[in-house]
Amino acid sequence: MGEIGYVIIELEEVDSTNLYAERLLSKGTVEEGTVIQAKHQIAGKGQGENRWESLPGQNLTFSIVLHPRFLEPGCQFHLNKAICLGILDFLSAYVDRAVVKWPNDILIDSKKVGGILIQHSVEGEILETTIVGIGLNVNQTKFDHNLTRAASLFQILHQELKLKEALVLLCNAIEGRYSLLRGNEIEKLEFDFCEALLGFQEKRIFLLNGEEIQGIIRGVDEFGRLLVEHPGNNTKTYAHKEIQYLMK
Ligand code: BTN
Repeated sequence: MGEIGYVIIELEEVDSTNLYAERLLSKGTVEEGTVIQAKHQIAGKGQGENRWESLPGQNLTFSIVLHPRFLEPGCQFHLNKAICLGILDFLSAYVDRAVVKWPNDILIDSKKVGGILIQHSVEGEILETTIVGIGLNVNQTKFDHNLTRAASLFQILHQELKLKEALVLLCNAIEGRYSLLRGNEIEKLEFDFCEALLGFQEKRIFLLNGEEIQGIIRGVDEFGRLLVEHPGNNTKTYAHKEIQYLMK
């Protein structure tokens, strides 16, 4: 069982590190914890149909190959929690205001500094492989005008980070949380994830079927669906994209 980041494949340029990981896996075994990092992704993938834009050599764009066979496929979201918390643990050395915008955007001061793209592959009842793609905006100083909600750590901390060192620290932090998952410490992950959630236990406005609706985030269920309590003690569960959190 390899540690996350024990093997790092460094690429100058690639379409997407997630795609590279897929190709590697299709050719044979890839050791757990292998990291594929690229200086430049020419077709970085974001959630859904989105692209992930990142200027060459300024940020972290990488994928981790995991084999979480110990996790029941229905409990995949626990892995999501562990990854988000690992990223927050890493960030906590620099800033204490990082939060998770459900399900897995990493925000500081309402700006998105990091995104995660997780691809699972299940064989029978076994969660055989998971590719965890992470984009973290580190040293970039300017973003395309369309990306009004994007920011880098540099813009927030006014401090440049060495990417190589940052990657090692980040991998260690994720390893810490992945070990909790391996050790079945789900309650701790759940508790910490809820604490890290933007809007947890706060009255907020959401967009549901085009209408604004008030609600309080009470947590997430085992499938990662958001639990929102609406006025009148009426708690509902929502899948990703079904409900939208309105940013202030
Ligand atoms: C999001 O839309 O929030 C998810 C972004 C994930 C981006 C990372 S960058 C490294 C990895 N390779 C990709 O093509 N995407 C992920």
